Amino acid sequence: MTRMAITLTASLITIATATAAMAAPVPPVAVTVETGKPGARIDRHIFGQFAEHLGTGIYDGVWVGRDSQIPNVRGIRTDVVTALKAIHVPDVRWPGGCYADDYHWRKAIGDPSKRPITVNYLWGRVPESNQFGTHEYFDFLDQIGSEAYVSGNVGSGTPQEMSDWLEYMTADPAISTLGAERAANGHPAPFKVPFFGVGNESWGCGGSMTPEHYADVYRNYATFARNYDNAQQLPNGDYDPNGMKRISSGPNVDDYHWTEVRMEASTHQIFSWSLDGLSLHFYSGFDQWPPSNSADSFGEDQYAHVIRSALKMEDLVSKHSAIMDKYDPNKRVMLVVDEWGAWYLPAPGSNPRFLQQQNSQRDAVLAAVTLNIFARHADRVRMANIAQMVNVLQSMILTSGDKMVLTPTYYLFKLYVPFQDATFLPVDYDAGSYVHGDVTLPRLDVMAAKGTDSKTYVSLTNVDPTQPLAVDLSAMGFKARTATGQTLTAPKMDSTNTFDHPDTVTPRPVAAKVGRDGKLVLTLAPESVTVVEVE
Ligand code: AHR
Repeated sequence: MTRMAITLTASLITIATATAAMAAPVPPVAVTVETGKPGARIDRHIFGQFAEHLGTGIYDGVWVGRDSQIPNVRGIRTDVVTALKAIHVPDVRWPGGCYADDYHWRKAIGDPSKRPITVNYLWGRVPESNQFGTHEYFDFLDQIGSEAYVSGNVGSGTPQEMSDWLEYMTADPAISTLGAERAANGHPAPFKVPFFGVGNESWGCGGSMTPEHYADVYRNYATFARNYDNAQQLPNGDYDPNGMKRISSGPNVDDYHWTEVRMEASTHQIFSWSLDGLSLHFYSGFDQWPPSNSADSFGEDQYAHVIRSALKMEDLVSKHSAIMDKYDPNKRVMLVVDEWGAWYLPAPGSNPRFLQQQNSQRDAVLAAVTLNIFARHADRVRMANIAQMVNVLQSMILTSGDKMVLTPTYYLFKLYVPFQDATFLPVDYDAGSYVHGDVTLPRLDVMAAKGTDSKTYVSLTNVDPTQPLAVDLSAMGFKARTATGQTLTAPKMDSTNTFDHPDTVTPRPVAAKVGRDGKLVLTLAPESVTVVEVE
């Protein structure tokens, strides 16, 4: 900053202080939580992650190999596992993304030294060593305490290949040669596969299909996508793949026709279990494709446009849900937002096909307002997967060699752990407006829930990057006396954590007590997310 700018800033502060002295104090925004009107359960699976064979998302990010100098357990890096355990990752979607429809599972099982090297065509035409395959994925899930969401290959695979993979993963070795092969490869017990995706983006990289064509293809593949471990016979003699939810490739952003066709087709499917989830993909961070915003060097203009882009999620979820309601009024089928997050310009000097980008405080705000939308639609949105877990797009973690840094988005997910499987509580408040140029956004975004520990948790996001905001939390359906928790804020709107400065954006404790005026006032820093337990 130049000296002239400093002088100008100092004068502005003087003017602002004088104006503030003259103006009446702004009363805190009253937030009322309806603790007596519990809503839907906020499924922990909306906090799911997505890890694709893309760039350094798996290799370097998760897998370093058994002989690596980087501390690891059976090839999986220990620092990343420790960090992920702390955010209670409910599920990891793998191996893609677009890569899923290029993936042939047999190439990545058995003796690692005999696995072929294949080309990851889509993501940079780089060699894929196949060292991280089915067994390594399940080992990783075990290490972080998470569940599987496996994406099957529809685009370049057959129903038989998909069915064989599931038999390999889930069948009893005593009754299946594929199950016995899995046992010989080191895992006698069936792997648990609670979620299975039948193709990915089948309208695009997954096969460029029309929704009408895909609806038929889906029914074909889904019929043979069997979970041999969980299969149970129903009273009517059918086999219910109890526990394994089949998820259909779904619409791209606002392709409502896709949802209409897919849901209509589900009404005349023979097996009710054939469709358990419909996937929705929506990336934000840009107004027009291709993304042109910087991840870590921007001003208020870009900040406001990016948050506005993320808030489109509300409209998308509402409209896709309304179509689903027509065909599935009991909301049996989940809307699974299994790719979401901000997509910016690639990090300078990186391979553009590796989709590597930094992550700033803005991304923490973006994640908070998005997760709040999912929570408000918890009756239909019961699963979501941020893209992606490590080193790709809006990641939790960045690695480089033996170095690791946790991003603001990671800390946001950590703050939100109490909301996993919590019960949604309606909230009443005047959000006000944050206006910048042609962008008007709600200034305050609040979400509340009763945790599995029966405590009342409230998330408060001050979207305004320029002004603090006071809120009064005394009306919780009970007379609240204290609010304690953590706040995520940053020195600048584009602050990031780097390998050299890993703690620029980290949560700090906050606490407030009810005053003599009966108000429980918390002041939210500009562009911050605060999660408190209110008692
Ligand atoms: O997340 C990156 C890519 O974005 C995924 O592979 C694909 O499904 C989507 O288009």
